[in-house]
Amino acid sequence: MTKSEVVKIILENHQSAPVAFGEAFAPANIALAKYWGKRDEELNLPRTPSLSVSLGQYGSHTKISQTDNGDFYMLNGQVVAADTSFARRLGLYLDLFRPDTDFFFRVETVNSIPTAAGLASSASAYAALVFALNDFFQWRLDKTALSILARLGSGSACRSVYRGFVEWQAGTAESGMDSFALPLAHTWPDLCLGLIEISSEEKPVSSRAGMKRTVQSSVLYKNWPEKVEKDLERLKTAIEKKDFALLGQTAESNALAMHATMIAAWPPLLYWLPQSLETIHKIHRLRDEGLPVFFTMDAGPNIKLLFEAKDKDDVSHQFENIKIIQPFDWAGEKT
Ligand code: DP6
Repeated sequence: MTKSEVVKIILENHQSAPVAFGEAFAPANIALAKYWGKRDEELNLPRTPSLSVSLGQYGSHTKISQTDNGDFYMLNGQVVAADTSFARRLGLYLDLFRPDTDFFFRVETVNSIPTAAGLASSASAYAALVFALNDFFQWRLDKTALSILARLGSGSACRSVYRGFVEWQAGTAESGMDSFALPLAHTWPDLCLGLIEISSEEKPVSSRAGMKRTVQSSVLYKNWPEKVEKDLERLKTAIEKKDFALLGQTAESNALAMHATMIAAWPPLLYWLPQSLETIHKIHRLRDEGLPVFFTMDAGPNIKLLFEAKDKDDVSHQFENIKIIQPFDWAGEKT
């Protein structure tokens, strides 16, 4: 099935009456049980479920309107050149929603994710874009439909339609209509994330290409679905019981198992830099000394610490330039 067939099904029986502009915010998210490997590359359908935590007020704010003579994109106040991979990917995605071929979009996105965090923002960017399109065309779609549309832009974006803990159920349907995110009922106000930037350079192999290579060539990939299944159960128990050690151990072990599948791919995918490894050793040393701090990593060298609010001071003394986020600390936020 193609993306445009899915869009057609979703938008059937929904009006499409553009107003002056649409705008919306969506949070970034960090997976505690990772999405790594697709069963359908066109529709970004995953081989396994995944579970993430959204980053509260940190994410993307997007404003969309109609313009003449070609699309116009701005990111963090800068014009994005049409010949960049960012613009090409965005343009192809917007093609799915143009009422006719000479309908053009002006898209302005501002990311509130600290730039020093080295966090990929495609998840919040595509979720915010879908919310903004929904507002602009007055579709009035529900969150499930919005999650499916966001997934078509970037898999992990389907989780950014909700705050808090979010599970992306893998689904089995060929159309992917059962592959969308759902929020978990529990919150964890004391949970903290610490973003440690090791490098802000663009990674040599994208997540998209990296997961494809892993599925095709890694001898360890066959064990991955079973690992995710077990970790999901453990994470849900940890969240329900507020068992921080179980949450931290499970998230760290899941991220390391994902990196093991990547390292065993050919050509090998080794996203770690010497400083990533130094930081990992430091985390393990601190833990041996009694500080409950764990980490997760995505397809890159940067490290995201997991710890509780009571240890905030100790953790921030240990790591220079750490950016601390309390994902559930969004009281008073309107979005
Ligand atoms: C390691 O969602 O960026 O961050 O679906 O191809 O756009 P595409 O991939 P993407 O992959 C994210 C991979 C990850 C793990 C995760 O966020 O679950």
